[in-house]
Order: sequence, then C-alpha cells, then structure tokens
Amino acid sequence: MQLDGRFVLTAGERELRLPGRANATPAWLYGDTPFPVLRARHGQALDLGLQNNLKEHSSIHWHGLRVPNAMDGVPYLTQMPVLPGRNFSYRFTPPDPGLTIFHPHCNTIEQFGRGLAGVLIVDGDEDEPFDDDVLCVLKEWRVAEDGSFLPLTTPQGAGGAGTFGNLRTTNNESVPELIVSSGSDIRLRVVNLDATRIGEIGIEGAAAHVIAIDGNAVTPFPLETWRLGPAMRLELSLRTPNEGGAVRLLDFFAQEPVVLATLTSHGSNRRNDAFAGRGLKPAVLPEPDLSSPRVHALTLGASAIATQYAKLAPIVLPDGTRIDLLDALCSNGGTFWAIDGKTWPRAGHQDAPPPFAKFNRGETVVIEFLNTTKQPHPMHLHGHSFKVLSASRLQRPVHWADTVLVMPDERVRIAFVADNPGNWMMHCHVIEHQDTGMMAWFEIA
Ligand code: C2O
Ligand code: CU
Repeated sequence: MQLDGRFVLTAGERELRLPGRANATPAWLYGDTPFPVLRARHGQALDLGLQNNLKEHSSIHWHGLRVPNAMDGVPYLTQMPVLPGRNFSYRFTPPDPGLTIFHPHCNTIEQFGRGLAGVLIVDGDEDEPFDDDVLCVLKEWRVAEDGSFLPLTTPQGAGGAGTFGNLRTTNNESVPELIVSSGSDIRLRVVNLDATRIGEIGIEGAAAHVIAIDGNAVTPFPLETWRLGPAMRLELSLRTPNEGGAVRLLDFFAQEPVVLATLTSHGSNRRNDAFAGRGLKPAVLPEPDLSSPRVHALTLGASAIATQYAKLAPIVLPDGTRIDLLDALCSNGGTFWAIDGKTWPRAGHQDAPPPFAKFNRGETVVIEFLNTTKQPHPMHLHGHSFKVLSASRLQRPVHWADTVLVMPDERVRIAFVADNPGNWMMHCHVIEHQDTGMMAWFEIA
C-alpha cells in the first residue's frame, strides 16, 4: 500500500486460513492478512499509528530504520507500552531508502509468532526502475492440523536452536507461483519474518546478483547462496528466462533443498541485451573512522545459571520420574543466554540491567562478537546501520547491515558511527534467545 503520510495499523486477533489446515488460525495481525506491505518515498514524513486491539500491551519497532529514539518502539526503554485499546503515533521521516520490517517488541515470542509483523519499503534507491519488483516474505507457522497454535516456545528450543514452525509459507502460501514478465530485469526482495529459521537462500534457473543486504545497497556480486537469519533481508537482481521458463527460490540449509517460490515467465521478452547484474544507488551512511578504533569485544555465551544446570546430572526421583532440567530452568524463569556474561532477566523489558556501554555522540564504535555457543546468533542493533568488516567463518563481503549472523566459534567485527542519541537495544533475533537472556542495550549521550 502506497502511503500518503498517515496510516494506522490495527493490531488484533483475526481468523487466518493457513494452507492445509482444517480450521482458521487465531492469528494476531496488523490487517486482514498477515504482513502488510507499506510503501513510502524517500524523504516523506510518516505518521504511522498503532491501534492496539490486543488484550495485552504492544508496541512497534521499525527494524532497520534509523529513527529517533522515541520512535523505536521498545517498551520502558524508549516509550511506555501501548495498553490494550490505546493507540500511539510513530512519526518519523525515514532517513534512508530501502527494505525494512516492523514488529512488536512486547511479548515478542507470542506477538511475532502469531503473525504481527509487516514490511516497509522506502523507495528511492533505484536509478532506473526495474521491470518488476517481487517480494517474498518467509514465515513458518507453528500450527496444529486443526489450525490452533502449537506452543510457540519450548525449553529445548529456547535453550537450543529455537522452536521451529511446522508450516513453511512464502507470502502466506505453501509454494507460490509468481508470474513475471519474460526476459525482464527484476528486483527480487526476500524477507525473513520467521522468529527462528535461518535459511540459506539460493536461486535456480537464472544468474542472480546480490544488490542489497538488510535494505542497504551493495556493489552487485553474484549470488551463490546467502545465509538469511530472522529479520534479515536479501535483495537480488536477475534476468527472467524466456516464456514458460521458471526461476526457483530455494533454501539450501536443509537435507534436501526446499523450494520457497517459483517465478514463471510470461509473455514475450522485454529485453534482448545481455544482463549485467543491475545495481542500486550506493547506500549513504556515516562512515566509521577506523584509524584508531576502541574495540568492544562481546562474547555470546550461555547464562551463568544455564552453565550450572548443564553440569548437573539428570534428576531421577525415587518413583523413577526423570526431571528435565531444561524444563525446570525455563519454567522457573531461568535464562539460557548471555552477552559478555550478562543476562537480561526474564521480565520482558522491565527491570533493564545497566547499559553494556555508553558511547559519545559521533564516535566510531567497533564491536567484535565472539560466539562461544553451538548455535548461530543473528545479532541486531537498533537505531544504526553498521558495517560488517570481517567474519572468521562465513564468507561475506564488507557490507552495511542491521542484523549479522554470528556462527558458532565465529568472530565477527562490525563498526558504526554512534550518531543517534538515546537508548538502543542490541539482541539476538532468534526471539527465544532474546527472551531468555541474549539482549542488552547501549546509550549514546
Ligand atoms: Cu527486529 Cu529489537 O528487533
Ligand atoms: Cu541467538
């Protein structure tokens, strides 16, 4: 939907028909269908309202947008939560064009898991329009055969790789067939709106070039595959095949590649010249000064209490009942994860621990993540786009991002200019990891 400035997103429970389910699912959505797509022009002032028709408080976080702190949607840290029946206006002018997402930052396992999320595209990064602009929104639902939700979190998931959905969808269908013009240059935008799944995105049937990562333009480079964690976005340009030909979007991070969508060519060819991997206008972001950086090393690890539990032998009661320690830990409000040995308590966003750092406005910040766990962690920073400088395991070019995957045993260095004053979150975007401790915040004075 093209925004003309003001728009209200109404969060509420709505019946949703999901593929292959006998009954409707009681989804929580911002509209009648999941994942509204809002479109704005670069430079346009926006007033986006949240009308909260849920029975619990909520908020909207504009993920990937460098908004003023008061518009960032983090309860208690940047605003009071929006109570049931109440509304809140988010007013900002997106500083950069690009592909961003939005979602609640309250009870996120449930609110995000049940479908509260959307896409905000800020146009203005193309020199010349593509022939087609195709969006693929990936999401896995956790729903029983009868359409009801399965538990959105489990102790094994929260303490492990996360609790995966059992129904993969692209644009709310199982494997959509999207019709595109033949022999045309298209822009394919892939958005991971799942809370857990890390995909390895690839294309079959055409040579694709990566043109943007997390909504930030990159110098085009050929796509082999790209690991796409929760909340991450990947944009590609490709030339579609001749009439009847098909291009497939795949996830290779599985035993057998999973087809996510098929793009079928229709009509006569739009173009006959050779395809050269068309790119976007370069991203304009404050350039970190790397001449004498202060490096903040942050270890991604297990929480102290999880480490203690891990050392205990399973408990077997006299009657033979085995006690699952993970379950016991989780149901007692225990945490599993920590950033630099510190764990955010399980009380939502209230009772925030002290900030992990205070930065001066305008200073270059370099963070080096070291993942000492067995799970990958897509680490996200609010309020800033950062430059991914280096990574020790997954090959990636230097690029701008707002979420970066840190693989097990990997060291990843990022840098940004701390130019946006306020209190900003940093957390893993596997939402169960975030909720069980892997969350922190920093202050820019
Ligand atoms: Cu998309 Cu704090 O998150
Ligand atoms: Cu994580």
